[in-house]
Amino acid sequence: MQIHNLRDWQTHLKTLRAWKAEGKIRYIGITTSHGKSHRKLEKILRNESLDFVQFSYNIEDRDVEKRLLPLAADRGVAVLINRPFQHGELFSKVKGKALPNWAAEFDCASWGQFFLKFIVSHPAVTCVIPATSKIHHLQDNMAAGFGRLPNTVMRKRMADYFASL
Ligand SMILES: NC(=O)c1ccc[n+]([C@@H]2O[C@H](COP(=O)([O-])OP(=O)(O)OC[C@H]3O[C@@H](n4cnc5c(N)ncnc54)[C@H](OP(=O)(O)O)[C@@H]3O)[C@@H](O)[C@H]2O)c1
Repeated sequence: MQIHNLRDWQTHLKTLRAWKAEGKIRYIGITTSHGKSHRKLEKILRNESLDFVQFSYNIEDRDVEKRLLPLAADRGVAVLINRPFQHGELFSKVKGKALPNWAAEFDCASWGQFFLKFIVSHPAVTCVIPATSKIHHLQDNMAAGFGRLPNTVMRKRMADYFASL
């Protein structure tokens, strides 16, 4: 159960904790997106006991690598990632551009998988939640959950390559 966008989070957290104690729900988390409220979320993550947090992260918007991702890992809190394609904008940037040959080294066959594997290979990330209205995109995205993942060196290569496009 997630508290959406930190809205009235103190009130909701109290309710959700009671529900968890009663066995009605198993995991409690708080969400934000678009890089909003990072300082506030950081404070909550430091001071409250949560099962998971949700925020935005993708190959273009990497701000959370500095503080939120390492903090979640330190606190043992699971991380859900929203906006993995920057609301679809990443696909416009790679339109007409071929996937580099070395993407095969981590079993990646499309730009969608390239973007998703970049995210799930971060050691602090638990799960990514891409949005789509199309079955063939859903199938493409699910394929990112299979095969090898890029290591740290490869992740840097991916980010540098994307930035150079
Ligand atoms: N505060 C919050 O809690 C919060 C805020 C924002 C988002 N979210 C959640 O985060 C998730 C992600 O949402 P998002 O809409 O922000 O953005 P997103 O996943 O970054 O991007 C979605 C866009 O990517 C396109 N797309 C998806 N798969 C594709 C593929 N394989 N190939 C080409 N295009 C592809 C989709 O178009 P098609 O429809 O054409 O596939 C859509 O336009 C959602 O579950 C949303 O509810 C939560």
